[in-house]
Amino acid sequence: MRKLLFLLVSMIIGGNGLATASMDGGSAQRGAAKAFYCTGCHGFNGMGTPSVPNLAGRDQDELIKKLNKFKKKKSSIMGLQLAKFSDDDLKDLVAYFSSLKKSDRGQASYERDIEPVIEWRCISCHTAGGEGARKSGLNLGSYDALMAGTNQGGDLIVPGSSETSSFMIMVTRKDHLRMPFGAPPLSDDEIRVLRMWIDQGAKNN
Ligand code: HEC
Ligand code: HEC
Repeated sequence: MRKLLFLLVSMIIGGNGLATASMDGGSAQRGAAKAFYCTGCHGFNGMGTPSVPNLAGRDQDELIKKLNKFKKKKSSIMGLQLAKFSDDDLKDLVAYFSSLKKSDRGQASYERDIEPVIEWRCISCHTAGGEGARKSGLNLGSYDALMAGTNQGGDLIVPGSSETSSFMIMVTRKDHLRMPFGAPPLSDDEIRVLRMWIDQGAKNN
């Protein structure tokens, strides 16, 4: 709920500034910078959720047609979302979502989704010489190291079962040992994509 409110407030504040340079085709790069208005509902990397459709890797023309239809129906959820976006913004957004690999539709990827989270939130402690690596032996510097687990905790990832993977338990537990240690928790989106990746087999993809 807090996230939704943040999204709405940032749309009101930021929305007017979005009508930028006009160009024929959309730019995936510019779209990436605007996509966070959409991923709050459409999921991390536009991969969708059980109740909101996936946008990743889809045909640009099809997406633009749908958006133009929504724009006319101002009372629908999407109509309300789109009121602030110029035609150029929509072209950029569609270029961005469409550029996400087609094979990745609804499919989490280690390289694209998991590695950046680990690098941003975990690696400072879980690399050779870091506090976490020293205390637990867990090195998160590579896929192989993550899958190797630790002497103390054994396997941290059980492919196909996020519920029983102690990696997930460590990032969602409620006490002082929740990871990242001594820092704010991972976001709901990050937790969701980690779960999805493990449930889909924790592949090195
Ligand atoms: C508040 C949540 C929310 C936000 C924010 C949001 N969407 Fe949606 N979107 C939805 C829902 C729900 C649907 C399904 C609605 C329907 O089909 O009537 C949808 C449908 C769509 C569809 C049609 C997909 C299909 O297969 O039919 C497209 C395209 C789309 N959204 C793009 C976007 C873009 C681009 C943004 C960012 C500017 C965005 N959405 C922001 C909730 C949201
Ligand atoms: C500020 C440093 C720090 C950060 C950042 C950090 N950790 Fe840790 N981590 C530790 C320490 C210290 C331990 C050992 C805790 C203990 O057992 O006392 C640990 C232990 C763990 C363990 C338990 C390993 C085992 O053998 O049971 C897991 C799993 C883990 N961390 C995952 C993560 C993940 C995933 C992230 C990023 C989301 C992360 N950590 C970020 C410091 C950190």
